[in-house]
Amino acid sequence: MAYYSEEFIEEVKSSNDILDVVSSYVNLKRHGTNYFGNCPFHREKTPSFSVAPDKQIFHCFGCGQGGNVITFIMKIENLGFQEAVEFLADRAKLDITAGKADSNDEDEELKLREYHKSVLYNINRDAGKFFHQNIYTSKIAQDYLTARKLDISTVRKFGIGFAKDDNGLYKFLKEKGYKEQDLIASGLVGKSQSGVLYDKFKNRLMFPIFDIRGRVVAFGGRTLVSNEEQKEKHIPKYVNSPENLAYTKGKHLYGLNLAKKNASKLKKILVVEGYMDVVSPVSKGVTNVVASLGTALTENQGKLLRNYTDEVILSYDSDDAGQNAIMRGIDVLQNLGVTCKVLQMSGAKDPDEFVLKYGPEKFNQLIDNSITAVEYKILNLKKNYNLNDTSEKIRFLNKMAEILSKLPNNIERDIYIEKLSKEVGVGKEALVAEVEKFLFKEQDKKVVNLNIPKVEEIKEEKNYLSSQEEETIVYLLTSKEKRVYEKIKEVVKEGDFKSGTCKNLLSKLYRAYELGTINEIDLTSLCETEEEVNLLTKVMLKQNTLDDFEKITDEVLQNFKLLKLQQRRNELMELMKQTTDPEEKNRIESEIREIISNIVRK
Ligand code: CTP
Ligand code: MN
Repeated sequence: MAYYSEEFIEEVKSSNDILDVVSSYVNLKRHGTNYFGNCPFHREKTPSFSVAPDKQIFHCFGCGQGGNVITFIMKIENLGFQEAVEFLADRAKLDITAGKADSNDEDEELKLREYHKSVLYNINRDAGKFFHQNIYTSKIAQDYLTARKLDISTVRKFGIGFAKDDNGLYKFLKEKGYKEQDLIASGLVGKSQSGVLYDKFKNRLMFPIFDIRGRVVAFGGRTLVSNEEQKEKHIPKYVNSPENLAYTKGKHLYGLNLAKKNASKLKKILVVEGYMDVVSPVSKGVTNVVASLGTALTENQGKLLRNYTDEVILSYDSDDAGQNAIMRGIDVLQNLGVTCKVLQMSGAKDPDEFVLKYGPEKFNQLIDNSITAVEYKILNLKKNYNLNDTSEKIRFLNKMAEILSKLPNNIERDIYIEKLSKEVGVGKEALVAEVEKFLFKEQDKKVVNLNIPKVEEIKEEKNYLSSQEEETIVYLLTSKEKRVYEKIKEVVKEGDFKSGTCKNLLSKLYRAYELGTINEIDLTSLCETEEEVNLLTKVMLKQNTLDDFEKITDEVLQNFKLLKLQQRRNELMELMKQTTDPEEKNRIESEIREIISNIVRK
């Protein structure tokens, strides 16, 4: 399935130093030969994320994730392998077309898909330019922009354009030589039953949607006709590009390509609903705003956000759809470990209207005054109960206690109990008692879980090489020193490792030594699964301080030989019990004696 050749992938890796790449996302501090920082993949206060420039790998001892520069980009930019390779090739200004591998049938199909995908990106790019040019020659577009208080530099920044009503785009793209099939796939061109091709977007302001690599993946087009006319003639306010090879709904965030330009990691990002809710704040200097487009925030979008910030503030419309979207958004973000707050707004229906009406300072104040997800949930809950009715109040209290019991720490919980008991008018003691009920229930569950031993623990008892020792042996083999390999190979057989990731790594390393490729390869490329990469990088980074490989090998093997002797002794003693033949008994006994004297000598 290789699409890019091994050589090209190696070139991409060697042209992108892991320290440079990681540093643009994580603040790293040097400590010995390695660098440390706070892990971008999970939340932590003390740095357990480390990068070894000499080995070109990273590993987080907190969450266990690790890998090479490509793995890092896959995780942090939420990309597939090929996309990550392309991302890094771009970064190092390498020519991607030179890297394509020779192919078989399966690859041919993949290549064809990739080809059509790249055509779609080109169509979108050309269409974007075409629409944008239309702005300069179209009075109605300019009037609309003025009415919405959009200056030309903002229009340029977002690449906003205009689709006229003259099938101009189709003519333009056809002229450029694009094929009918690709034009239709782009969703910008339609085909009537009689076979006539036409522009799908007409008389609409066009917002290009960019991916984080800056490619146009789709468009959103807003009609210029008035609200009344929209209703009367059933004209949708917005029309979007359909999904195709280049565009999957819910995978992108409108405006992220611009927001992320300002800093590698933003303190917070505001997520809004619509295009104009991004464009207006940005035009007034509030730059950390993106739109989820259509209401609910998807998990993909959550992951994307997590790469650029630790705190997301949701600002959706106050209608039911918007409020449901907030609830779902909170869940998505909290599951991903991202702090989530909610912006509360009055006096305007959306961020666009608010900034234009009250200015960016007031809008920034709103952002600063956002309430936490818990506060939001409780205020929202309150709306559904009549607190003057006793039974409703009890039910409300119960629900509220459930929400509070899920908070991760006691201090935070106490603060909320204090605050909310006042705000919603329930006694503090009553609330504490309710919350405790939920906490006890949770604790019971945990106790039950603890009493069941884990399968790995049982296995562990029967094996005489501990996981720690297995890992040390793997580590020694990563030295790429032939002597070390020869010594180990003589004593440690694959069967001596309990099955699992470590064993897989052992056999892969053995094979690489046997094939003589060990010196040429990046060791992470031996790994086939994420578990393997994570373990390998952990082992390589954890033991980085041990550096006299041969000496450690001798020590480790010494211990291992001893263990093997003990095991053989136990086997023989067991055999002895079952043997009746006196001659055989004698033979076994002398072997045991020999082993024991060997053990004593060691
Ligand atoms: N939307 C859509 N299709 C529609 C209506 C809305 O895709 N028919 C999406 C668009 O991304 C839009 C967002 O939902 O930006 C919010 O819609 P809405 O609140 O109705 O519009 P506004 O963003 O306020 O649009 P405008 O300010 O241009 O009136
Ligand atoms: Mn609006």
